[in-house]
Amino acid sequence: MKARVLPTGETVSALGLGTWRMGERRENRVQEMAAIRLALDLGMTVIDTAEMYADGGAEELVGHALSDGTSLRDRAFLVSKVYPQNASRAGVVAACERSLRRLRTDRIELYLLHWRGQYPLAETVAGFEALRRAGKIRYWGVSNLDLSDMQELWGVPQGSGAVVNQVLYNLGRRGVEWDLLPWLQKHQVLTMAYSPLDQARLMTHEGLGKMAQEKGMTSSQLALAWLLRQAGVIAIPKSARPERLREFAKAAEFALSVQDLGQLDRLFSPPERALPLEML
Ligand SMILES: NC(=O)c1ccc[n+]([C@@H]2O[C@H](COP(=O)([O-])OP(=O)(O)OC[C@H]3O[C@@H](n4cnc5c(N)ncnc54)[C@H](OP(=O)(O)O)[C@@H]3O)[C@@H](O)[C@H]2O)c1
Repeated sequence: MKARVLPTGETVSALGLGTWRMGERRENRVQEMAAIRLALDLGMTVIDTAEMYADGGAEELVGHALSDGTSLRDRAFLVSKVYPQNASRAGVVAACERSLRRLRTDRIELYLLHWRGQYPLAETVAGFEALRRAGKIRYWGVSNLDLSDMQELWGVPQGSGAVVNQVLYNLGRRGVEWDLLPWLQKHQVLTMAYSPLDQARLMTHEGLGKMAQEKGMTSSQLALAWLLRQAGVIAIPKSARPERLREFAKAAEFALSVQDLGQLDRLFSPPERALPLEML
C-alpha cells in the first residue's frame, strides 16, 4: 500500500475507508463491521468517521468493529471530526471525550474540525492542542477549509500544527488544483480527498468507463489511481462491499502515463481560474 508521511516522520496509508452512511441501519451492521476489518487487512488503515455520521452511530460501529480483543485497533489510524458548533476551546475537548467513548478507545489518531463555524479558529486550535498534550489525540487537522481559511489558520498560535485538510476532491471536482492543493503541498499539509468517487457518480461516466476498460482497470480504480499519483494526497472511498474494497486496494498499484493523464484532462477539465471550495 502506498504511504504518506506525517511531519513526525510517521507514515499512514494513502488509501483509507470512509464511513459516512454506515452505522445507520441495524441490518447492515455485520456487513459494515466486516468492511472495516477487511479494509485494515487490505492495508487501508486510515478509517475516517465523524461525530456527525449516523449521530455517533458510525463511531460506535468503528469502535465495535475494532474492539475484538486482537491488535486490530493498533493497526488502525482513526480519523474523527468535531462539529463546528462544538468547536469552542472547551467544546472540542468535551466532544472528543464523547467520540472516544463511542470509539471504545483512549486516543484518536487524527481529529479534524469538520467545517468552519462560529468559533474563532484560535479557540478550536487551543482545544486541539490541549487534547494533543493530554494524549487523547495524536494529530489534528481541518476539513473543508479554503485557501483564505488556511492562511488565516497559519496566522493563529500553533495553527500551523494542522497536518491534514480533508476536502472534496475527485476527477469531476478539481477546483482545489488551482491554488489550495499547491498551497497544502508547499506547507506539508496532507490533502485527504473525500468523496473520491463523487459519491458513485463517476461510476456512470461513459468516457471514464471506456478508458478504464482499455487499461484493464475499473472506473473506481482509475479515479483513485489518478488521485493517489499525487504527492501528499490520501483518498478515503466508502463502500461496505468486500469486492469493491478489494478493487479499491489495488488502485494504488496502477501507474498512469503522461498520455493517460492527458486523456483524463480531456474528459475532466482542470480548473482555469480560482473557484470557491466546493463541499458536500
Ligand atoms: N469532511 C467532509 O465534509 C466529508 C464529506 C463527505 C464525505 N466525507 C468522508 O469521505 C468518505 C467518502 O466519501 P463519500 O462516502 O461521500 O463518497 P464516495 O466514496 O465517493 O462514494 C461512495 C459511494 O459510492 C458507492 N460505490 C463505491 N464503489 C462503487 C462501485 N464500484 N460502483 C457503484 N457504486 C460504488 C458506495 O456504495 P456501497 O457502499 O454500496 O459500495 C457509496 O454509496 C465518506 O464516507 C466520509 O468518511 C467527508
